[in-house]
Formats: sequence, C-alpha cells, structure tokens
Amino acid sequence: MIRSAGILTFFLCAIRLSGGPRDGSIEQRVDALLARMTLDEKIGQMSQSTAMNTLTDSIKQEIRQGRWGSFLNAGSPADRAEAQRIARHESRLGIPLIFGRDVIHGYRTIFPIPLGQAASWDPALIERAARTAATEASTEGIRWAFAPMVDIARDPRWGRIAESPGEDPYLAGVFGAAIVRGFQGRSLLDNSSVAACVKHFAGYGAAEAGRDYNSAWIPEILLRDVYLPPFQASLAAGAATLMTAFNTLNGVPATGNPFLLRTILRGEWKFQGTVVSDYEAVTEMVPHGYAADNRDAAREALSAGVDMEMVSAAYHDYLKSLLAAGQVTLPQIDDAVRNILRLKFRLGLFDQKIPAPAQASVTPQSRALAQQLATESAVLLKNAGNLLPLSASVHSVAVIGPLANSPIDQMGTWVMDGRPEDVQTPLAALRRMLGEARVRYAPGLKNSRSVDRSGFAAALDAARAADVVLLFLGEEQILSGEARSRAFLNLPGAQTQLVDEIAALKKPTVAIIQAGRPLTFDRTASQVGAVLWAWHPGTMGGPAIADLLFGRAVPSGKLTVTFPRTVGQVPIYYAHLNTGRPASAAELGIPMGTPAEPAGYTSKYIDVDFTPEYPFGFGLSYTTFEYSNLRLNHPELPTGGAISLSADIRNTGSRAADEVVQLYVHPVTASVAQPVRLLKGFRRISLHPGETQTVTFNVTAADLAYHDQQMHLVAEPGRYQVWIAPDSARGLEGAFTLR
Ligand code: BGC
Repeated sequence: MIRSAGILTFFLCAIRLSGGPRDGSIEQRVDALLARMTLDEKIGQMSQSTAMNTLTDSIKQEIRQGRWGSFLNAGSPADRAEAQRIARHESRLGIPLIFGRDVIHGYRTIFPIPLGQAASWDPALIERAARTAATEASTEGIRWAFAPMVDIARDPRWGRIAESPGEDPYLAGVFGAAIVRGFQGRSLLDNSSVAACVKHFAGYGAAEAGRDYNSAWIPEILLRDVYLPPFQASLAAGAATLMTAFNTLNGVPATGNPFLLRTILRGEWKFQGTVVSDYEAVTEMVPHGYAADNRDAAREALSAGVDMEMVSAAYHDYLKSLLAAGQVTLPQIDDAVRNILRLKFRLGLFDQKIPAPAQASVTPQSRALAQQLATESAVLLKNAGNLLPLSASVHSVAVIGPLANSPIDQMGTWVMDGRPEDVQTPLAALRRMLGEARVRYAPGLKNSRSVDRSGFAAALDAARAADVVLLFLGEEQILSGEARSRAFLNLPGAQTQLVDEIAALKKPTVAIIQAGRPLTFDRTASQVGAVLWAWHPGTMGGPAIADLLFGRAVPSGKLTVTFPRTVGQVPIYYAHLNTGRPASAAELGIPMGTPAEPAGYTSKYIDVDFTPEYPFGFGLSYTTFEYSNLRLNHPELPTGGAISLSADIRNTGSRAADEVVQLYVHPVTASVAQPVRLLKGFRRISLHPGETQTVTFNVTAADLAYHDQQMHLVAEPGRYQVWIAPDSARGLEGAFTLR
C-alpha cells in the first residue's frame, strides 16, 4: 500500500496566485472600509503588539482607539475573547484583531520537533498533526500560526535547525505545504482554521557559522535553487502570510529587502497575502548598519513591502511624519492595510460570532496522532547483531540517563502551550509496559549538561542488576531553538563519561538519543549495540519509544539532515557539487600516504574521513529491503513529456515494515554545475515480509529544472543519472537523456 506520495511538483512558470485567490466581494469590503479609515487607524492595523500579557484597562482603551491590528502571544482565551469583543463592538470601525502565536509543532498536544517530523517523510501525517494544532489553537482564539518554518538548514550548530525540515529544498517544500494545508484546512473561513505564516524569508538558516541572527551570504543562483523553493511551495499551497527574517541577505536586511519582497515575492510569485516582520526586525535594521534610525527603518520596511510590524513601534512612531514629508506614499500604506484587512475578512473575523473562551485539551485522538508521528520520526542509526527489538521476555531493564524522565525535554523547543503534565516520558511508558518491578531507574546525571558524577554509582548498580541497559542521552530542550547555537556538537556534560562506565559492564546496551540537532557521538555509538535517534519527540514520545524498543512498532524514520563525524566537517550536506577532484571510495578512512607517496590530492580531510557519519535519507529498520530491477519506460525524456522510473522493493526480512523510497537525479553536464544528487521524489510504502512492491516515479522536464547563469529556470538537454534509493549514499542507478 502506498500511503503518501511525494508528488513531483516544480514551478517552471510563475506559480498560481498565492496568498489565496482574490475574492471580489472581499475586495469591495476592503476598499469600502479603507475609504473610511483615518491614517491613525491604518497605522494601527499595521502594528502588532506583544504587550497584552493581561488585558489591562489601558490596552482596552488602545483597542477601542484602533491602536493595534494584532497581538502575538497574548493573554488567556478569556482575555482574547474580551479584547476581540472590544475591537469589534467598541472601536469606531469594528475592525477585529487577529491573534498570532508560535504554533510550531503542536499547540497543546506536542508533536515531534519539525526536524523530527520531517524524518517521517509522511506529509499526510504531518498535515493531520498541523490540523490538530490548528483546532487546538483556534479553540483558544488563535487564528494565526507563525509556521511553517521552511528555512533550509545545513549547519547543525544553528539551534533553529530543530525548527526546520532539514537540508533539502524539495523535501522542505513538501513539508511546508503539508503544514499549510493542515493549518488552513479546506477554508480559512472555517473557524477551526488558522492562517499559516511561512518563515523566515529568506536565508535565515544560512547564518554564518551557525550563529543565530547572523549574516547570510547566498549567491542568487543558490538562493533560487535551494533557499527559495520551499517558500514557493508553501505559498503555492495557499499560505496566507509570510514572515521576513532577522538576517541580512547579501548585506541587505531581509526585512527591508525589495529584491526579496517586491521583485520575487510580489512580482514573480504574485503573492497577495500579508507580510509581517519578525520580532523587532524592523528596528534591527539600525544595528545592522542599514537604516540610520527607527524612522528610516520604518521607511525601508514599508518601501520593501512589510505590511505589519511585529513588536517594535517604528510604523506607529514615524509613518505619519514620513508621509507628511513625502518619504512614503499613501498608496504604500493603503496596500499594506489592504493586505491585512483581506486576511481578516478571509478568516471570517469580521462576520463570525466571537467564540466563547474555551481551553484546548489533549484528547485520545490527538495523543494517538502524536504517538504515531513520534514513532515514524524516530531513526534507527545502529543495530548491531539485531539487538533491537528487545524481546518481551527480557527480565529487567535499567533505564539510565538524564532524558529518560524529563517531560519538558521530551517536548523540545517552542512549546508555549504544551504542558509537562500531558507528557508521557519514556520511563513512565516503559514502567507501564513492563511493570514497575522490571524497570530499574537511575538517571546518572541530573540533566544533559551536568558534570556532577555523584549519580553514576546508582546508575552502574542499576545497570549491573538488569539484563539490558537503556541509555537516554542527548540535549535538553533549552539547548536547541532560537539563540541556542552550539560550537560543539558532542553530547554535553558528563554523558560520554557515563556511557564509558556503563559500557565497561559489557551489558547489552541501547542508546536512545533525544536532541534538537545532529550531534557527533561516534565514541558512544561504538560502545553501544544500538542507537535509536528520537529527536525531541513530543507529548507521546515515551510510548512511541517503548513500542519501538520492544518491537510493537518498527523504525521507519530517515534523516533529513546529514550527520557529520565532527563539527569540523560542517557544512556537510548530500547535495554538494562534485568538485574537479572528488575523493573516492578508495580514500575512505584517513589516508595519509608517505612523504615519498603522499595520499591523493583530492577534496577531503587528512584527519577525518570525508564521508558523513550518517547520510541524508538514512535510517535502518528491523527488517531488510532489497531494491532491484530499476527500469525506465524510455531511454529519452522528450521536452513536454514524462518518463517513468520504476524499481521493485522487496521486504526480505521477517517483519512488516515501512520503507521510504527516494528518487534522486543528477544532470551529468549542465551550464551551471549541479549537485551530485538531488532529491526529486519519495514514497513511504508498507511491505509485509516477503512482499514486493513496484514503486514508480514520473518525471517531467519541469521536475529537472534549475537556474542558469541568467537566472532562468531551465531544463537543460543532456544525460541525467538517476537513482531509486534507500538513502542518498546508495541505490539503483540508471540514466536517461533529456531531448
Ligand atoms: C522568531 C519568530 C517568531 C517570533 C514571534 C521571533 O523571535 O524568530 O520565529 O515567530 O519571534 O514569537
């Protein structure tokens, strides 16, 4: 059964109008309302505040006066309902507020971090998770979610890699579109839908050296081939809004960047939705060294096309005088206000009854979904001697490590509304599954960064007394996410030492690693029999992990980001160029040669293997899959036509399991050198033992297109290598010619 298909979509021509189609009656209402608005009311709509922690009398008064168009992260459901009532019924024009919030990987029910969700390669499931988040958020009066984040991240030092779908533009686009569909549902008018906000436009993930907020230098061709496609795909799925990024892109702040916002977003992509800045990103153009002062920053942001300013008050403080001085124009302001009013009309905020304040809660359905996504996102990285799955008859297990029973760390970064009491930790789940008596728990370390070894003795005792040791290692929640860049990618604190001592006992040992980014842990991996990479798995991570460990579920996640051997290899990603001197398989390891015969002059390191620790797309299973019989329906792909590529995938083991089958291509010659492989499609399939399925991908010339030196999107004639593969480093290889 094919459960989810990566549909090959590429945008050879201008995409269809994004940000939603224009609705004539809405446009009339927008224009009619705009005609009645004062300049102050217009500027109010363009201002978003974070000040409504509680709904004070002064904020109520400001709402009556039309001072704010939107609040973020504001108040309780009751405060939001009351604020909305005041806006609708006590302000001069009755313009509703819109409440925005960071609903990043769940609202009350927390799903795996986005980097984990992406590892499921299951867009249909990701869409359902986003729908659940939308339902929960909208129950509490939130109709605008600041997600999906589709920043391509190729540097695990960057803490926000946790929030991203990883390193690949195609996959990130599929992921972003799934979230947009989930958030926005069939119609924004449905009051359980929330407007999506695709962010951070653009280049934020390319922060220099992985330091958050840092400069991004991205040649236009790379921008168009790698960093922009996920935005374009998310907008094509209908994302109603977009957030600008904090960073400079090639020296120009993204928030004052006419090339990004006017030429590309509004011009080429015809986006008609709302553009919001990131948090104080408008006034940050001053420290960037771009705007002279906040007044100048307001002018730059509006001229570039930022409709709404998040948190800082440059629009409020200066747009009036800028207009009077002729430094901005009324049409510029009116356009921005139109984009904001249109969103509010599309969401039905003007017309719907204000919902009574209510509290979202975790339900059996949301728990089941969270568990399924946590299960599918876990990646089995090592399984020597088939140590996993553990037999149900294992007499006792030792549960050790700082992450085994920490609810908050299961949830990961950006969980404003997740609650520790909703979380089922791995320890709790294992106790429930095996019974208290069979589980010996000793954390060893208080948290992931702790260097206090006073808990080691108890951990060693627990390990000695058990048949199997389960080590829950990794990074705490607060080590990943915004402003959480790391210069080292090792297991923090004294975790490695803890593993050293446990490993010396020579017990069967499994490491379950929970983290918001790829880590370097080769020493630990070599000391344990199995490694299950669980990310920060969310509310139901514990039961998902317990089921995976004991074979009630089979691992099927695959990495969407390359794991380096050492931080010194960063950036390392699968879709690199070949170079003129590629290292070869013969040079694996650390070939030094001798003074007389030095090792090859190829692109590699002399102190570490040139390959990654785990490649993009990689993940093991409890069964094995055999790929065979790659075939093409034709050796040539005619322009305007399609070619079918098929392979047979057989489950050669003894367990039913899912496999993520990946399609990669490489143009052998191109007017601009192309990556050694590029993902162009994937399928997650379920196979019974012994079952074979044929997986077919249809590829058109548009799917093969990239930008040439003149920035035209072109599908160039020539020979293309193609792989149907279990990951980016292996697979069946074929070739065809594009005529
Ligand atoms: C982040 C955004 C987020 C915003 C609002 C900023 O610091 O960069 O991603 O949506 O805050 O909380």
